Amino acid sequence: MDQLVRADVRRPAGLGRFGEYGGRFVPEALVPACEEVERAFTEAWHDPEFRAELRHLLAVYVGRPTPLTPAVRLSAELGITLLLKREDLTHTGSHKINNVLGQALLARRMGKRRLIAETGAGQHGVATATAGALLGLDVTVFMGERDIERQELNVFRMKMLGAEVVPVSAGSRTLKDATSEAFRYWVTVVDDSYYCLGSALGPHPYPWMVRELQRVIGDEARAQCEAGVPDFVVACVGGGSNAAGTFAGFLDTPARLVGVEAAGGAAISAGSPGVLHGFRSKVLQDAHGQILEAHSISAGLDYPGVGPEHAYLAETGRATYVTADDTEVVAATHRLARAEGILCALESAHAVAWVLRAAADGTIPAGSTVVLTLSGRGDKDMATLMELS
Ligand SMILES: Cc1ncc(COP(=O)(O)O)c(C=O)c1O
Repeated sequence: MDQLVRADVRRPAGLGRFGEYGGRFVPEALVPACEEVERAFTEAWHDPEFRAELRHLLAVYVGRPTPLTPAVRLSAELGITLLLKREDLTHTGSHKINNVLGQALLARRMGKRRLIAETGAGQHGVATATAGALLGLDVTVFMGERDIERQELNVFRMKMLGAEVVPVSAGSRTLKDATSEAFRYWVTVVDDSYYCLGSALGPHPYPWMVRELQRVIGDEARAQCEAGVPDFVVACVGGGSNAAGTFAGFLDTPARLVGVEAAGGAAISAGSPGVLHGFRSKVLQDAHGQILEAHSISAGLDYPGVGPEHAYLAETGRATYVTADDTEVVAATHRLARAEGILCALESAHAVAWVLRAAADGTIPAGSTVVLTLSGRGDKDMATLMELS
């Protein structure tokens, strides 16, 4: 199945190019900083001691490997075999910690004393605050005011862990604006601070580095599929880190890869090529190239762009991207909870919603095996769900 894998999907060419996507579109002041991160990560990723320390922390601190749980009752209802990759069971409650621990170890290795991060749902902020506490690094997190309102619990968690949370009042007051502000701030403190980006996006080397740090999800899941390669591999897509990490484990197999975007933040399904936050990809924009606001019930998918590797996988046809809307996402959250006793994050519920729909309409044929990455747990979303009910 090697023809399914282009070498540049595994390792981007040049300045982080995935076909026409990716690259490094940053102000001059940040070029040396990105180059420093690229050099440091390339060295670290080839250093067995760095890999061993990360592997050790993932085992004894994060709780890896996470299980691949058969969703027994839901499988019976749908006529398929549904296997859930349980990132919701990691320490801090989402896949974000896999990426953050790797980057925090890298920051320490580079001699930085502070981590800067952006966050939407708050999960990446919590993971960064956690890693900062663990490794003795200061943490500053930028978060849109609207997200601060809807993710109050995670804001409190970050503060408990010693992080400074900086509210962002610009624009839509969500993830896009928090990311812009974090980049702006990084320029001013670049000498002693490391920008710990939360998804597989941003300027090179971030999309590649974050994919590599998240590939543990896909590699583990593949090894855990006792019955062989599944027919479908499904994950939700915000910036695209849990999906990129999941897909990485299955790119060289015949498995159909499906990324599920929020209907109101569907950069691949409804966007066009453009530049945002230092990289070229598919983005939601108007005829003048002005970035449009995304809308999703889940703060983590409320982003008008998507990681460049996904734009490329979509264009080459290796992965398919679909959408789920808020109503079916809430319904899917309830159905999974009742059938399996698992309250997942609203982000992850997008993947569940598509599987429910696709199994019902035959897009997923009866008898298929489906691996679905459950990227996070739902505690942070209980207030939103309570309001709705
Ligand atoms: C639980 C959860 N899943 C998914 C996402 C989306 O991010 P990504 O597409 O990078 O995996 C987020 C983002 O905050 C999240 O908290």
